[in-house]
Amino acid sequence: MSLNLTTRYLGLELRNPFIVGASPFSDNLSACAALEEAGASALVLRSLFAEQFELEQRALVHHTESSGESYAEATSYFPNYEDYQLGPDQYLRRIKNLKKLLRIPVIASLNGSRLGSWVSCAQQMEQAGADAIELNLYQLATAPELDGDQVEVEMLHIVRTVVSTVNIPVAVKLSPFHTTMTNFALALEHSGAAGLVFFNRFYQPDFNIEDLEVVPQLKLSDSSELLLRLRWLSIVSPHAKSSLACSGGVHHIEDAIKAILAGAHGVQVVSALLKHGPAYLTTLLNGLRTWMTDRGYTSVEEFRGAMNLKRCPDPAAHERANYIRILQSWRV
Ligand SMILES: Cc1cc2nc3c(=O)[nH]c(=O)nc-3n(C[C@H](O)[C@H](O)[C@H](O)COP(=O)(O)O)c2cc1C
Repeated sequence: MSLNLTTRYLGLELRNPFIVGASPFSDNLSACAALEEAGASALVLRSLFAEQFELEQRALVHHTESSGESYAEATSYFPNYEDYQLGPDQYLRRIKNLKKLLRIPVIASLNGSRLGSWVSCAQQMEQAGADAIELNLYQLATAPELDGDQVEVEMLHIVRTVVSTVNIPVAVKLSPFHTTMTNFALALEHSGAAGLVFFNRFYQPDFNIEDLEVVPQLKLSDSSELLLRLRWLSIVSPHAKSSLACSGGVHHIEDAIKAILAGAHGVQVVSALLKHGPAYLTTLLNGLRTWMTDRGYTSVEEFRGAMNLKRCPDPAAHERANYIRILQSWRV
């Protein structure tokens, strides 16, 4: 029985749902070739950060005006220019090189939280050959005077601006912490987003209680992180017209199948590939084929969204009822 694993993501025809998410893999051309060989259907580059442009501009002003003025304290938290893996020019060259090397779509990642001149970089990414752009609006809104509405209005403004700057599709990598996720997801679509990625992952610092220091850390994910993605994909997918991707917690084929059942067109994988290497994609693909064959599915589209909340008349009541039931079932 021939299986159709193809999926449409951001208007692109992908040979299967497995996308390599934004990560250091894009720094290494031979790793990228190995990922394609193992079955990856698209590759997202690591992000280019708005802060890199700001550094460049500041360095230019500093150079031309040779002012002795020191930078604002906040900027000193950020890495120095040379600490970024790829500068803006190198990033554009990397897109060109990846486009020469790979046949699968190459998705650039632009990362910033306030509208600025960095947005124009989207055009250069397009000119360099990127098939799409993933926009990561990562920020923690810590200022007490900032309300949630202001944050979302600014995000929508950035999305509209980037979308109007380029002719390639733009996806938005979402944070899981919006008050009204479905409403915001649809607002992103209305602003021109061709796809939504559920979710950004926050690198939560820990405390060292011996030295009283904050310890930044990057732990790879595990499958438990998938559940938050499943919940929101299931709720949003019946309403969404754009493409949806799951990012976070996909380690086993069961995780990927669940993401598709919840409504994902694309399944991004990073931690599992960093842990097991590019060839692990073949294991995931074989697992998908076996599961589909065992159940008589001939295409991914046949079961995509089969477990979303489309037929649930009141998802909020459904979720709350389950919440109450689960708490009440606990006995000591
Ligand atoms: C080492 C590392 C680097 C990453 N770099 C980026 C990045 O530059 N931009 C971005 O949007 N996400 C980045 N991510 C997040 C991943 O794209 C992904 O969203 C996250 O790891 C969750 O997926 P996973 O559970 O498959 O790892 C990075 C993750 C890791 C582990």
